[in-house]
Amino acid sequence: MIDAHTNAVLFETELLDSHRQQRTARVTLPLRSDEDVVGLRKQVRERAVAIALSLVDQTKLVTAASELARNTIKYGGGGEVHLDALSDGIRKGIGLIFVDGGPGIPDLDSALRDGFTTGGGLGLGLGGSKRLVDEFAIDSRMDEGTAVMVVKWKR
Ligand SMILES: Nc1ncnc2c1ncn2[C@@H]1O[C@H](COP(=O)(O)OP(=O)(O)O)[C@@H](O)[C@H]1O
Ligand SMILES: [Mg+2]
Repeated sequence: MIDAHTNAVLFETELLDSHRQQRTARVTLPLRSDEDVVGLRKQVRERAVAIALSLVDQTKLVTAASELARNTIKYGGGGEVHLDALSDGIRKGIGLIFVDGGPGIPDLDSALRDGFTTGGGLGLGLGGSKRLVDEFAIDSRMDEGTAVMVVKWKR
């Protein structure tokens, strides 16, 4: 996949096809700068309000989105995020898929552990994000990149 915004080569991953049957719309945004993170937070908040997520769930999803977007920029060298509107016929949901073309994550178990960081951070981003959402998946390959998918469903 070529990043439409920068021509960078991004990770080819099956995660991009997850929830294909439930997806009603997809919008893709670049993740390069702090401003991109601010814009993503706003988009996610608006979408969360639109499907009537509780205030707590809105904040959980925005927080996870922030953490994952910052990882995409800091460790992945930038990339993009797909914002998916989901509906399974009963519930609505929001899916976010972060994709970069960076070095990949050598050991996923370590990376998910609280306190693990290679960048002098708190090491709470990945594990914390996983706890804040209903569905969480990572695909990563050395020298190709990383993709992280999260979903929050309206209860
Ligand atoms: N997109 C990514 N590409 C490569 N490595 C990543 C990516 N996201 C996370 N990591 C690795 O996982 C570690 C843990 O991430 P995280 O839990 O967000 O903690 P922190 O950002 O504080 O380091 C990072 O330090 C980094 O080594
Ligand atoms: Mg982080």
